[in-house]
Amino acid sequence: MLVSIDPSTPRVGIVVTDSYPLEDLDHDTAPLVDALRARGVDARAAVWHDESLDWARFDLLVLRSPWDYPERVEEFMAWLERAEAATRVLNEPALVRWNLDKRYLAQLEREGVAVVPTTYRTVVDDVAAELRAFADAHVVLKPAVSAGARDTGLFRADDPAALELAARIVDAGGTVMVQPEIPELSAGREKALYVIDGELTHAIAKGALLAPGGGLLGGTYEEHPELVAVTDDEEAFAHAVVAAVGRATGLEAPLYARVDVVDSAAYGLVLLEAELFEPALNLHVAPHVTHLVAAAVARRLEVAATRVG
Ligand SMILES: Nc1ncnc2c1ncn2[C@@H]1O[C@H](COP(=O)(O)OP(=O)(O)O)[C@@H](O)[C@H]1O
Ligand SMILES: [Mg+2]
Repeated sequence: MLVSIDPSTPRVGIVVTDSYPLEDLDHDTAPLVDALRARGVDARAAVWHDESLDWARFDLLVLRSPWDYPERVEEFMAWLERAEAATRVLNEPALVRWNLDKRYLAQLEREGVAVVPTTYRTVVDDVAAELRAFADAHVVLKPAVSAGARDTGLFRADDPAALELAARIVDAGGTVMVQPEIPELSAGREKALYVIDGELTHAIAKGALLAPGGGLLGGTYEEHPELVAVTDDEEAFAHAVVAAVGRATGLEAPLYARVDVVDSAAYGLVLLEAELFEPALNLHVAPHVTHLVAAAVARRLEVAATRVG
């Protein structure tokens, strides 16, 4: 049967990519598209580097899983500019650009958020000096622009492999983030807290990812998300992070945010990252959240329609 689409039906593009590693599939887009369609929204997945798409035909683009962007950052930034010139994009591209480089953590710290202790180094010798100060403690090194634990390594500070990773990041033009190992993270106690349009909707634990000595446990990136309960402190922390993002950027409240935290013996409850443009929402383990996300998108569409009208 052919369904004719009313021209006033809002069109939403859920921005994705076209290939995912088997261990890291996009579990969110299909249910979200269905939930939006059930609300009368003409929703579809749209691959960000699909040259055949006319972005102006969408009333709203919701960034979801453009997960190949770290390998093609410049291309992604150029696309983002084109997309925002053509239509409304959420989260806001200005927020995306701010969120792309984890040096935002230092800004959030200045806004009063407790963050995993981090230094940012652009010179390998500075990393070497810092690692010497760590002696035989364990450290984590990662690039400021990364996702999916790419080029992220857990080492004893005197392991030459740590400096090799630092050199690789610097050679690629990146900034090296140096952090003490948070043992609770290595024990798989990272929690991702989801704030959808200002409401804490769900949380997942992801399990440990880094193998000591560099690389990933099991050799591949696998999150093993599990739905977990949220304490009052964690909920307050998540809202405080979103508020601090607002103060640091001066931008509108995000449609969605994933606030990754760990409750550590050494530092208390601390922020690992605030993911504002491509978090896996893990709707497959929290199906009840799907309609909350769809409702939030629908509300943003109404705002967009009022602005135009
Ligand atoms: N300081 C740390 N101590 C122990 N493990 C860490 C530390 N930083 C990161 N990790 C591990 O590496 C993973 C990826 O690091 P993260 O900072 O979340 O970057 P991204 O998810 O953007 O790649 C985390 O989910 C966590 O398992
Ligand atoms: Mg992470």
